[in-house]
Amino acid sequence: MATLRLGDTAPDFEQDSDIGPIRLYDYLGDNWGVLFSHPADFTPVCTTELGYTAKLADEFARRNVKVLAVSVDDANSHKEWINDINDTQNTTVNFPILADSDRKVSELYDMIHPNADNTATVRSVFIIDPKKKVRLILTYPASTGRNFNEILRCIDSLQLTDSHSVATPVNWQDGDDVIIVPSLKDEDVIKQKFPKGYTEVRPYLRVTPQPNK
Ligand code: BEZ
Repeated sequence: MATLRLGDTAPDFEQDSDIGPIRLYDYLGDNWGVLFSHPADFTPVCTTELGYTAKLADEFARRNVKVLAVSVDDANSHKEWINDINDTQNTTVNFPILADSDRKVSELYDMIHPNADNTATVRSVFIIDPKKKVRLILTYPASTGRNFNEILRCIDSLQLTDSHSVATPVNWQDGDDVIIVPSLKDEDVIKQKFPKGYTEVRPYLRVTPQPNK
């Protein structure tokens, strides 16, 4: 499988998990998806990441996002690890963890980077849209836990920019001003799409209040 790039169709697969076999497309349905890998079960950084992700359940649900973790251990190991995560992180893991012992998913999504580690996955994140297109890819090393607030922020940006002719600027958070895409030139269309008006800092840099707020 060639390396996945933004805009590619996310490859479907069936793989075992702590709750039984999962087919990606069936699991996602018409939702957005976050598919994210972990080097191994019973590792400290992953334990904190999965615990925090479980606590964000309402945030993911509000954005119509289904979460799916990947780790290259078997389903029984995952079940024991989930008990540990629940205990130590004071939460209840509420999404499945794929049991990728045969590395089917890890290889399909290029989650093993041999020059970093020959067997364990790196910390990959794939955001998949309802049309099953890969919309965002993050790759972190095993020793660096990811920022799941950033993942929510990226989903907010993707969902907003899909439905309005805007882009989101540096460090944007939901509710902040946004940028009118440079390709939109027609003043009448701009007025109709952005009734709150906009500030032209430069002809290519036009700032407007977030249109759906
Ligand atoms: C881990 O928790 O996955 C981890 C911790 C230290 C170094 C590498 C990985």
